[in-house]
Amino acid sequence: MKGLILCGGKGTRLRPLTYTSAKQLIPVANKPILFYAIEAIRDAGIYELGIVVGETQPEVRRAVGDGSRCGVKVTYIEQEAPLGLAHAVKIARPFLQEEPFVLFLGDNIVREGITTFVERFKASKPDALILLSRVAEPQRFGVAELREGRIVRLVEKPKTPPSDLALVGVYLFNHHIFEAAEAIGPSWRNELEITDAIQYLIDKGYVVEPHMVAGWWKDTGKPEDVLEANRLMLAAIETRIAGEVDDSSNLTGQVVIEPGGRVVNSCIRGPAIIGEGSLIMNAYIGPFTSIGPNVTIVNSEVEHSVILTDSTVSDVPERIDDSLIGRNVVIKRSQAKPLAIKMVLGDNSRISVG
Ligand code: DAU
Repeated sequence: MKGLILCGGKGTRLRPLTYTSAKQLIPVANKPILFYAIEAIRDAGIYELGIVVGETQPEVRRAVGDGSRCGVKVTYIEQEAPLGLAHAVKIARPFLQEEPFVLFLGDNIVREGITTFVERFKASKPDALILLSRVAEPQRFGVAELREGRIVRLVEKPKTPPSDLALVGVYLFNHHIFEAAEAIGPSWRNELEITDAIQYLIDKGYVVEPHMVAGWWKDTGKPEDVLEANRLMLAAIETRIAGEVDDSSNLTGQVVIEPGGRVVNSCIRGPAIIGEGSLIMNAYIGPFTSIGPNVTIVNSEVEHSVILTDSTVSDVPERIDDSLIGRNVVIKRSQAKPLAIKMVLGDNSRISVG
């Protein structure tokens, strides 16, 4: 079997972070989301991976390289524009050839991995195997209608969802999916939808097997989804102190301090992770916080947040909570008069002043 991860697309709901970065490279518990997909596929025993890339291709290549660091062999497949998930499958045909494959959306995280689904697919040999999960807002996803355990209909982002069963962004296919991707036309959002391609398989009498995902699954399309995925991932970390913690600091719960990380006169309540080379001084870091590499937090409090590389938070009087902060961001208390809030924000930034 081969693997195909989709890393094109625009990531509009994660702006401004995605103006300068691929959404699949936003870190969750200090690891880019894309790496969870690569590792899940590798752990299922699949080592030949295609990654579909769009305009953020240089950044994805820089992060993943030839895949050898993760124990896989990566082939990059360029998509000229985000013309849909089925379009991405179509252009990957020269790489996939006639082999069955797992399609993994690069912004999805499936906590339990995919090994059992891959084994199930190999054992029962359907034409497609899809994963389903119950969700609160089915209109945001592809939705399945089941009758007596069999799929009768799949609809992409329906206004009136026929059920609360969302299509998870992991699919297993044999070569018949190419016939389907060739046969369908663009949807209302002008994309070749994988949902329509699977519906084609159903209509033509091919075997499409549904499976429920038992553990949690996240599509990290929006900032609150990234924060939730971060919370869920951190809940499983184990304490590892590879950096320095001075005697006047106090660590409780599960806390990771990466090498070169320094904690001085601070309180950290896990689960939390402090990245390589970061400095936490006279600060409070609360539960469910991921601090990326080379970040400085001084005289400030941060909780339930994700802060990316090279940012600084200093002397901020209010606690920072529920926040997703990008790279090279500076948040500080200014002494200059007038004592007002002064900001330089990129397009589509959001600030809530309490
Ligand atoms: O997350 C699950 C959902 O993913 C499913 O429930 C939906 O049925 C499915 O259509 C998909 O919906 P999204 O609207 O969330 O897909 P999105 O546009 O975010 O694309 C998913 C991934 O695929 C993302 O990493 C970007 C990449 N992509 C997307 C398109 C449209 C490509 O590589 N090429 C593309 O042309």
